[in-house]
This record gives sequence, C-alpha cells and structure tokens, in this order.
Amino acid sequence: MSTPKILLGPLVGGLSHEGAKVWARADAQSTLYVWLASRADGKDARLAGNVELAARDGHAGVVELTRLKPETNYFYAVSLRKVRPKREEFHRFITFPKPGSRRSFSFVFGSCYLPPDEHGGKTMGEISRRVEADALRFGLLLGDQIYADIAAQNGLGRIAVTLEEYRTVYEYAWSRPAMRVLLPNLPLFMTLDDHEVDDDWHWRDPDRRWADIPLHNKFLRWLKGIPPQQRHLFPGRIRAALKAYHEHQAMHAPEMLIPLEPDESGKFRFERQDEGSLAYSFTCGGAAFFVLDTRTMRVKGRERSLLSEGQWKVLQEWFLSVREQYPVKFLVSSGTVLHPFWLDLTRDRWTGFPAERERLLEFLAVNEIEGVRILTGDLHSAHAVSAELKCPSGRRIPIWEFCSTPFEQTPMFISNTYLPIFSKWIGNQKKLFHQTGQNFGIVHVDFDSTPPRVSFSLHYNKDGWKTLPSVETVNRV
Ligand SMILES: [Fe+2]
Repeated sequence: MSTPKILLGPLVGGLSHEGAKVWARADAQSTLYVWLASRADGKDARLAGNVELAARDGHAGVVELTRLKPETNYFYAVSLRKVRPKREEFHRFITFPKPGSRRSFSFVFGSCYLPPDEHGGKTMGEISRRVEADALRFGLLLGDQIYADIAAQNGLGRIAVTLEEYRTVYEYAWSRPAMRVLLPNLPLFMTLDDHEVDDDWHWRDPDRRWADIPLHNKFLRWLKGIPPQQRHLFPGRIRAALKAYHEHQAMHAPEMLIPLEPDESGKFRFERQDEGSLAYSFTCGGAAFFVLDTRTMRVKGRERSLLSEGQWKVLQEWFLSVREQYPVKFLVSSGTVLHPFWLDLTRDRWTGFPAERERLLEFLAVNEIEGVRILTGDLHSAHAVSAELKCPSGRRIPIWEFCSTPFEQTPMFISNTYLPIFSKWIGNQKKLFHQTGQNFGIVHVDFDSTPPRVSFSLHYNKDGWKTLPSVETVNRV
C-alpha cells in the first residue's frame, strides 16, 4: 500500500484572538499532525495536536489550536507522520486582537471560483501577492467556492451527484496550483452560495422534503441529453453536497451559532423543527462579523423563507449584542441586499424575499444599528452602494454594501441595471461604482482615526490588474 498523502490544504480556519483550526484532507486513512512554532524556520516547533482523518469525513479533519496569544505571529505545518516538517513547509498566521480592542487591519473578500484552466486562473495568484503587500489578516470566501454543476470545468466531466463526486470537485478546484499556494498562507472564513449544491437551488416546502432548480436549467440539461439524476435535485443530492461542504468549508469555521442536526452518517437531517443553520459570527478586534447562511434553509413555494426563524433569532440577538461594543459591523451575505437590478429575472437574491429584506431593514432602523457594512458576492460584477437607514426617531444612519465577484467566472453585465429599494426604512441610496472583470476586494478597517473609517478597494483584471479609487466610509462625521 502506498503512503497516504495530503490532498488539500493545509489551511487555517476559525481564527480568533486565542485559537485557530488547522484543516487538511488526505487521500487515505491517516493521522494528521499539526506543528506550531514561533520561529519562521520552524526550529522550535512543537506538536500541537493530531486527529484521525477517517473515510467517513472524506479523510478531512481539523486540529484545534487553543490558548494562543492575541496579535502574535505563529508558524504552522502539517504532516501525516510524527516527524517535524521541513522549514519550507511552515506557514505564518497572526492571531486576532482581543475582542473589542481597536486595532487597524485589512482583509480580502470575494466569491465565485470556477477554475478557467489547469492553472486555476490569475486571481488567486494576485491575492497571494497581496497577502504580504497589504498585510492581509484573512480572507472571506462568500460562496461558489466550487461549481459542482459545471461539468466542463469541475474536474469530473459531469454534474456532481454523489458525495464522492462532490468531494472530487473540491479536490480538483482547490488543487489548482494558484489555489494550492494561497490556501496555507491566508487564514480563511467561508460560506456557501448555490453552486456548492446546484445552480439557484432551493427547497420547495418548509418540511424540506422536496427541492428544485429552475425550470430553464432542467430544460437545457434535458436538451443536452443529460441523465435524470443530474437534471433533478433530489434531497439525497443536497445532503451529499452539504456533507462535502461540511468536510471542506464548515469543519474549520468558527462554531455554528445553532448547528444543524446530523444523522449517523454525518449528513444533515433537515427536520422541520430544526432551528439550525450554517450561520456563525466572529470578531477581529473592534470589528464584528456575522456570516449568514442564505442557502441551506431557503424555501420557495407557497411559504417562502430565506433565513429561517432560527437564524433570524441569532442574527437579531447578535446585532443587539454588538451594537455598542463594536463600532464596525460586517454582515456577510452570499447574495446582495442593497443592489436590486431591473433585469434580475431569477430573483435568487434578497430581492426575491422582499418581506425578509424589509424585516432586516426595519430591525436595523428601529434598533439604530450603526456602522453596518454588508459584504456580498454572487453577481459576477462588483459594486458599492451607500444608503441611509431611516430610524423612527428621525435619525438617519449610514449603511453600505460592498460587493466583489467573481474571482474566476464569466462577467454578468445585466447587474448594471441597478434600481434602489422601495422601502420606508431606507433612503438616499446611491450606487458608487459598478465594475466587471475578474476581481477581489480589499477592506481596510482603520481604528487609528476617530471615528473609525472603513475603505473598500476593488482590484480587477482588465488587460492587467488595476485598482479602483477606494470607497471611504465613516460611521458618522
Ligand atoms: Fe457564482
């Protein structure tokens, strides 16, 4: 039998001021050893922990690092034998500042990674170059980290259906050379959009017994002679896709606020009374992040819902808990909230759930939540929007949406038909820019000025990498 090898990773997830989760996936049953050093050459590395990489989880696993010091450089490496790795295998991460402490920092975000070629495209390479240059502390990947349903570019040659096939798509997309270089060197936080399962998918009933993809997709697949199991979305496929999602993206995230209930094989059950979701929150010093799950609980049909009541409960509690202590708040949503557009025929975003969008805006306005920046992706074109919440007290509170997408995908021009939201809770809506081309966003949170400032610079590739003038935002003047 050949010796097991690391297939994907390592990467650092779930970073905080005192801990981190080191994730990797191997190609066979093995033990993952994680080594931690304070020197870049790893000479003082100690064994920080180990975990069995079992077939049940596709040989993926995490070792949790605890009792780390805040704002400290660490160097880590992984091995499948209990032997300290060589110096070139050590990668750096820096722990976050203590919750609430006001320190300036930068991070990168974006979404939609469909490797255009064997190399994996140019964007991940450009982000890797920015890690040092912009002192990026982490990256936020906002969905479509794989495209399971794009047969020509998913490494399978057909639409993924089984758990093993979804695992193969991750294996292909995340082992492109540019992605392989990036993953170990930038701590990551992830959430899913639709293509982790299938294009624009949703449940059809609140019991989550039936699911669907849009009719035009099924029709096109039928025209191409694609077999029924790849044309229809059976609940078993969703559970397989989300098991693979858990193994690659959720396992190394911070703890879910209300975890979904798994069955004995580790797949989510989706019982109607399950209050769980894949939503989680974290902080980086004085900035608080809430990462929404806008996909796994989404129901379209007679009863429509986007987030589910369980997620609404934790989201509202979170806003109230961070309202005073965290002047900068990021609401991370795979789909846009503040950027509806005329030609949005599929309405696969918050615009397709107007009652819930209204509920969100009302909650923010009534509770006078300041300092909110929405981070989003999905549209295959980037934008920034500014607006004002109209509070019942008469106050007007600024709010913004920053969108960066795609890392690697075809551009979508129709999203340039922006139209403001019609709502009593929001006014003075302005589109600040719209940009196509492969792109990623860098957000700088500046706590050195009072009040804190947050800037968004968009890096896009059109005949070479260019940067738009950054959008500067201040909570209030
Ligand atoms: Fe996408």
